[in-house]
Amino acid sequence: MGYGRTRAGTWAGFQAPRGECVDVDAGPGGAGGAGVMRLATEPDRREQGQGSPGQGAQRKEPETRPRAFSGIQSSGRLHIGNYLGAMRPQVALQKTHDAFYAVVDYHALTSVHDASELRRLTREAALDYLAVGLDPEQSTLFRQSDVPLHTDLCWVLATVTPLSWCVHLPTFKDKKKDQAGDVNLGLLSYPVLQAADIIMYKAVAVPVGKDQVPHIEFAREVVRRFNSIYGETFPEPQAVLGSAPLVLGIDGTRKMSKSLKNHIEIFASREELCARVGTMVTDTEKVRRGDPGHPGRCNVFSLHRHFRPESAGAAQGAGGGAEGGPGELAADLAEISASCTEGKLGCVECKRRLAGVIDAHLAPLRERRAELATRPGRVDEILAACAARATRVAAATMDEVRAKTGLGRITYGVAGGGAGGR
Ligand code: TYM
Repeated sequence: MGYGRTRAGTWAGFQAPRGECVDVDAGPGGAGGAGVMRLATEPDRREQGQGSPGQGAQRKEPETRPRAFSGIQSSGRLHIGNYLGAMRPQVALQKTHDAFYAVVDYHALTSVHDASELRRLTREAALDYLAVGLDPEQSTLFRQSDVPLHTDLCWVLATVTPLSWCVHLPTFKDKKKDQAGDVNLGLLSYPVLQAADIIMYKAVAVPVGKDQVPHIEFAREVVRRFNSIYGETFPEPQAVLGSAPLVLGIDGTRKMSKSLKNHIEIFASREELCARVGTMVTDTEKVRRGDPGHPGRCNVFSLHRHFRPESAGAAQGAGGGAEGGPGELAADLAEISASCTEGKLGCVECKRRLAGVIDAHLAPLRERRAELATRPGRVDEILAACAARATRVAAATMDEVRAKTGLGRITYGVAGGGAGGR
């Protein structure tokens, strides 16, 4: 069976799970296009992490679910742009998909050249993933370099990828500016490795933020090129965007990013969090407290919205709302919008309330992370077991790729032993 597109948003070999995914394109504010879907629902904090990240990495093979893949670079502390744009949708998708999520340290190596720093950041990112609700009973969470077959496939894909595709990719142009003193070859082949990550698992869904959509489009082109030369082998993956595909930084204008230093860390202390929120730029037309505000144009209001469960509106309509419950949070949001518009709510107070809402959301995640950090051996075990499973799937793909391309057949070993390993 081929994996070509059969009609908009429907792919042979991919059944959208009912209720969880999908719109055909990105919808309002999203990056439209054939390769993009919208995630319909995301969990609020009550649903997250119901699995027990600390327990048993032994997992059932969920062969019947469609595959998802995504990755996060271990090049710095993760921020709420990563969380809202990618990690929260990824947690949601693990219920319906056979999800593979990697801390992509080969990618991070294009910018981090200090061994102990890279090792530390990789471990931190794995802890972050577990703390936000990634359940190793349901998903395969691994360190990319524990499955070196990714670089094997990357090389094969590099031989069918025209150089011009890489050179003209806007993300490469941005990287060249960001790290002008270190424009290494890895930066150029970065999207090829990303394509290898995804298609190694024949993933059809790739939950990411909007900035990654060009890379997913790139992966689709690479798949088409490979399949046209060697025969139908890989499905074309689609980006899956959550409800916050592009989170702006505290400057209110540019994408939140650690390199722009306009970020708020997910696992900042309560004090740091309040201080960062306190410096956020608000509606520039609201100069004095009594001036009417424009919530629709204010990044602070947009974060107020993103930190409330999507079900809030519905719950309010149904009369729901225990203290701090969805109904109350939705009512609170409506009240903020109205009193800002009427000039009754000042920006300082609005930010104070935002810090409180974010803190209430993140506090249980912080606790879970602190608890996990006391059991480093357990985290190592999870990563090692997941790397073994990822290697089994990757080896099957590479057998097929090696046979189709004329490369030699080999026996694959399992690397790794946890991010703490040497
Ligand atoms: P990275 O590490 O830069 O970001 C990880 C994820 O976080 C999302 N993200 C955001 N979403 C919304 N608003 C923001 N301000 C924001 N900042 C970051 C990103 O879109 C991403 O989903 N190339 C990838 C890593 C990667 C990968 C892959 C992703 C490697 N292989 C395969 C998917 C599939 C990257 O650098 O992400």
